[in-house]
Amino acid sequence: MSTTARTVLFHELGGPGVLTVEEVRLPAPGPGEVLVRVAAVALNRAEALFRSGGYFYQPTFPASRNGYEAAGTVEAVGEGVTAFAPGDPVMSAANFELSAHGVYGDRVLLPDTMVVPRPAGVDEVTAAAVWVTYTTAYGALVERAALAPGDHVLVTGAAGGVGTAALQVARRAGAVPIATTRSEAKRRQLLDLGAEHVIVSDGEDVVKETRRLTGGRGAEIVLDAIGGPGFAELGGAAAEDGRMICYGWLDAQPALLPMQWPLTVHGYSNFALLGTAEGRRRAAHYVGSGLADGTLRPVVAEVFDGLDRIGDAHRLMESNRHTGKIVVRV
Ligand SMILES: NC(=O)c1ccc[n+]([C@@H]2O[C@H](COP(=O)([O-])OP(=O)(O)OC[C@H]3O[C@@H](n4cnc5c(N)ncnc54)[C@H](OP(=O)(O)O)[C@@H]3O)[C@@H](O)[C@H]2O)c1
Repeated sequence: MSTTARTVLFHELGGPGVLTVEEVRLPAPGPGEVLVRVAAVALNRAEALFRSGGYFYQPTFPASRNGYEAAGTVEAVGEGVTAFAPGDPVMSAANFELSAHGVYGDRVLLPDTMVVPRPAGVDEVTAAAVWVTYTTAYGALVERAALAPGDHVLVTGAAGGVGTAALQVARRAGAVPIATTRSEAKRRQLLDLGAEHVIVSDGEDVVKETRRLTGGRGAEIVLDAIGGPGFAELGGAAAEDGRMICYGWLDAQPALLPMQWPLTVHGYSNFALLGTAEGRRRAAHYVGSGLADGTLRPVVAEVFDGLDRIGDAHRLMESNRHTGKIVVRV
């Protein structure tokens, strides 16, 4: 039986005001599809970039959807779906194209490969905030950069969703996280969230400070959310034969290659991890076990009530006043 869904759509590129809530008809789940009743969505900077045309692919108009991260409950399943049943607590797997499958809505229809079980005992607001942040930090640091105990890990944009998760993923491995922020006001918060040291880039020299804090050696791993021309300079903070992972493009200009060789530079995409059933299984186990043993403690900056607040949630993200994840309870 078909149903309707209040869904956030946008029909042109622009500021948070282009996001509108509209009633959309959803067909009954087809073969391999899952209908999810969404309880909460979380914001990822990618969605603000996507809305304004600065993401690595462009929206399809008219009526582009948006949103990678949702938590809710299965309402119905289509033929052939065996992994999920009505009533199951789930999250979106964030391994999809946003215009077609974006999850900002009160109901979404997704292929079963784009849904993952919600970890036991995790409420919907927290669940919306955990998947992309921790799987990105895990995939980049553990799987891609072979994070090891004692490694110094320089985390730029550390107050962000992925950044705060990366501090905890580094700690969980016995590594030493060094955080950067542009804001002095976030220094104390980042220390409380697990950073061993905090460098405030508006005022302190990130490369010099990292070298000083690592006894001149540099960080074995640099996890960078920013990219841009500053990426080349950031190479000066990496240890000889270190690993630099660029996973974000908060600076829209092209990144320049650091020349402090030998050095391994990775361009990290979470799609590589979440695009396979085996990757999703490893990621789910990592996140679930970390939440259960308390080493992963999701940081929720603010919760907005109602889908109509989605524009306000995007405005908060673009103000950069937040530390951690911004969530909208649907
Ligand atoms: N590759 C992947 O698979 C993947 C997965 C997830 C996210 N991403 C990307 O990773 C990036 C971060 O995402 P997120 O959701 O964690 O973002 P977020 O929560 O908005 O956090 C980013 C933080 O970086 C700082 N920042 C913002 N703009 C900046 C700029 N222009 N220059 C320097 N610092 C800036 C801000 O902190 P301060 O104000 O404290 O400095 C902000 O809190 C985005 O580009 C996103 O698209 C990629």
